Amino acid sequence: MKSIDVLAVETLLADRIGLDPSTLPRGMLPRAIRVRMDEAKLGDIAAYARRLAESESELLALTEEIVVPESWFFRDERPFTWLRDQIAARWLAQPALPSLRLLSLPCSSGEEPYSIAMTLRRAGLTSSRFIIDAVDVSARRLELARAGIYTANAFRGPAAAATEGFFRPNPNGFEIDPAIRALARFHQANVLDPDLLRGAQPYHVVFCRNLLIYLGETARARVEATLDRLVEPEGWLVLGHADRLGTGGRISRFKLDGEPGCFTYRRASPTPAAPANRHHARPRPALQPPVSPPRPLATPGPERTESLLAQAESLANQKRYPEAIAACDRLIRVKGPTAPAYHLLGTIHQAQGDPARAEDCFRKTVYLDPHHELALLSLALLAERKGDPTAAAGFRRRAKRRHAADTT
Ligand SMILES: C[S@@+](CC[C@H](N)C(=O)[O-])C[C@H]1O[C@@H](n2cnc3c(N)ncnc32)[C@H](O)[C@@H]1O
Repeated sequence: MKSIDVLAVETLLADRIGLDPSTLPRGMLPRAIRVRMDEAKLGDIAAYARRLAESESELLALTEEIVVPESWFFRDERPFTWLRDQIAARWLAQPALPSLRLLSLPCSSGEEPYSIAMTLRRAGLTSSRFIIDAVDVSARRLELARAGIYTANAFRGPAAAATEGFFRPNPNGFEIDPAIRALARFHQANVLDPDLLRGAQPYHVVFCRNLLIYLGETARARVEATLDRLVEPEGWLVLGHADRLGTGGRISRFKLDGEPGCFTYRRASPTPAAPANRHHARPRPALQPPVSPPRPLATPGPERTESLLAQAESLANQKRYPEAIAACDRLIRVKGPTAPAYHLLGTIHQAQGDPARAEDCFRKTVYLDPHHELALLSLALLAERKGDPTAAAGFRRRAKRRHAADTT
């Protein structure tokens, strides 16, 4: 049973940074607490829980120990091709449009905002026509972002080819072109802060990827309220595969709008009769062409969900991989992220020779089902191939525990 003090720490983390402790790998939080207790020279956890409740800097220090900072350039690829197409259809085609405003929230060590910058640069949008803001709670990750030096781990899979020409070798890895580095403005802030970027003009596009998956439901609803404030009317929100909005009991203003695998949502304008509740009430030029009405989203019953998964499996078995991926994406869109859907996606990416995407999907599978034996074994194999026997052994141990539990 958990001690009341560990529960107190978990509750504080959930309330202040939104973290759902059940998303953390087993043993991570107790280890992090131990590190911080040693650092703060506190001998018992009750005293540590009190310190945490009183001290913002201690909360940030513990946060540094437990955030999942995983990020890489052109992660998932499709959001960036979607962005490139939006720029071509709108900002390049219509020079009178206001400057494009983009936000990467959270940005971790900068891979996402710099991928956005490279996309804009390659599309030919001049730097006077856009701004990129990037926010993260972790001071350590932001320091890395500002330094702009990356190891090979930040370049994964075929999509990393898009970084070509923007890096030069450095004794510690690869250094980003200073002209790209200058295009992103980094800010340290907590996404749960109700005053986050208060006073900033809303953004045309907000990337909020691979954060919501770690948050509890209440925190997700709080983040959605902030996103509602930060995204322009008719602007876009880009989520990650496994992220879900928390509606907090109200109808979300964000409606899916985009190609499969892209997870872009469009913010609906407030109805004309509704009182203006945004701090930016001045009229803005509409983005052309006019918005098409959001596609209605079918909510399938259990049998429909089953049949979508079966359909995706059958397509994968026939090696019709792009169609199988589209079927999985559709399943995730209508049903939300599930371990079977991500496991199948991972298997398909593996069959297609894309280990980076496969690993991403298997990791999501085990976030959703920490005991998924097949996903754990696949992760072990991928880790071995990457020359990381320690990680491989860890995954195998977890899979074995599951196997033992199933057979006793
Ligand atoms: C997995 S990374 C995602 C980075 C990037 N968006 C991507 O998809 O590659 C998650 C990041 O969320 C940040 N984070 C976690 N909780 C946060 C909070 N309450 N406010 C701001 N950032 C937070 C972490 O510091 C970490 O860098």
